[in-house]
Amino acid sequence: MLYETINLTVGEHQYPIYVGSDLLSNADLLRPYVAGRRAFLISNETVGPLFAPTLRQVLTDVELDEHFLPDGEAFKTLDRVTETVEHLIARGHTRDTTIVALGGGVVGDTAGFTAAVYQRGVPFVQIPTTLLAQVDASVGGKTAVNHALGKNMIGAFYQPQAVVIDTDTLNSLPERERIAGVAEVIKHGIMADKTYFAWVEAHLENILAQDPEVMSHAIARSCQIKSEIVADDEKEKGRRALLNLGHTFGHAIESALGYGEWLHGEAVGAGLVMAADLSARMKMLAPSDAFRIRSVVEKAGLPAMPPLQVVDQLRELMSRDKKASDAGLRLILVRSIGEAVVVPDVPEALIAETISAREALCGG
Ligand SMILES: NC(=O)c1ccc[n+]([C@@H]2O[C@H](COP(=O)([O-])OP(=O)(O)OC[C@H]3O[C@@H](n4cnc5c(N)ncnc54)[C@H](O)[C@@H]3O)[C@@H](O)[C@H]2O)c1
Repeated sequence: MLYETINLTVGEHQYPIYVGSDLLSNADLLRPYVAGRRAFLISNETVGPLFAPTLRQVLTDVELDEHFLPDGEAFKTLDRVTETVEHLIARGHTRDTTIVALGGGVVGDTAGFTAAVYQRGVPFVQIPTTLLAQVDASVGGKTAVNHALGKNMIGAFYQPQAVVIDTDTLNSLPERERIAGVAEVIKHGIMADKTYFAWVEAHLENILAQDPEVMSHAIARSCQIKSEIVADDEKEKGRRALLNLGHTFGHAIESALGYGEWLHGEAVGAGLVMAADLSARMKMLAPSDAFRIRSVVEKAGLPAMPPLQVVDQLRELMSRDKKASDAGLRLILVRSIGEAVVVPDVPEALIAETISAREALCGG
């Protein structure tokens, strides 16, 4: 059973991220991270029934309680955390219990936050089962739930004991969710590694066809890139902000359309193309590189521009953002493929041009 290990060091805490096939049934790998004799599995009604039985078979000497949340972003709330805590208390779980998060980013964020606050913090293990969670949400220790007034408004930085990424779990993931995850893979190449970006371009078909070796490499390299940045800047005081490449436009699209209309990764896909387009308009990025970014996003099956019906709203949302900060709109842009930078004062007129452009500014 071959797998790759990426070691992430955050301050004094160090933990492994394992990436490979058939890892859920690997008792030798999982068992050491359940320190006590009890564990509490948090999953949802879709993912739990698929993979919890395997975990039960593997953790035979562990008393494993299970709690399945309803499926969906709408349930990433403090109410669900309170309800989960009530189950933990009712079943007598102490600080020796390990929380196991099994699912996509919604479950990972909710379970991670529960682990951070239950009795002031219990150990937890992330088992992400969507591509987006495997290459992004499960790595780096950001945990949070939503509030009616904003997404991820209640949260904590809380690192897991280990992240176990079994690439086989992606076999049951709906295609649209898989493609959404590819947006974050593309993002990692654009922001930090031109060789990886070229590899993604060359292997995109294999990624979309879920070739196991190619997927393992893509996930491991993405986790490595994210780990290096998080190790440097856990609390997002500086460099970690680069991971938000494409996300300012993406969040504006999600918010203008109403959350849930487009998947997060779909909005990030369009956001990456828009960030590249704006970088070209700012004369920072060669138009041919903006073209490469647009092509790979399109070939992945992701949207490459915002929906026409929200263009006016987007312009308004972005300028409202600008007014909120004295320094003008701070955006993550692309200097070259493999190098994202924070640009503190982006001219509003160019942002408006990018939002309105139905064809990105790019040469062949
Ligand atoms: N903490 C972070 O750093 C971070 C980073 C990015 C995103 N996020 C958060 O992640 C969330 C989005 O995560 P997501 O895209 O994984 O969505 P998700 O967790 O909602 O999962 C998407 C859908 O796929 C289903 N699913 C999951 N794994 C499956 C599998 N193997 N087979 C079949 N179905 C499966 C889920 O039940 C759900 O219906 C958002 O709440 C976002 O805020 C967090």
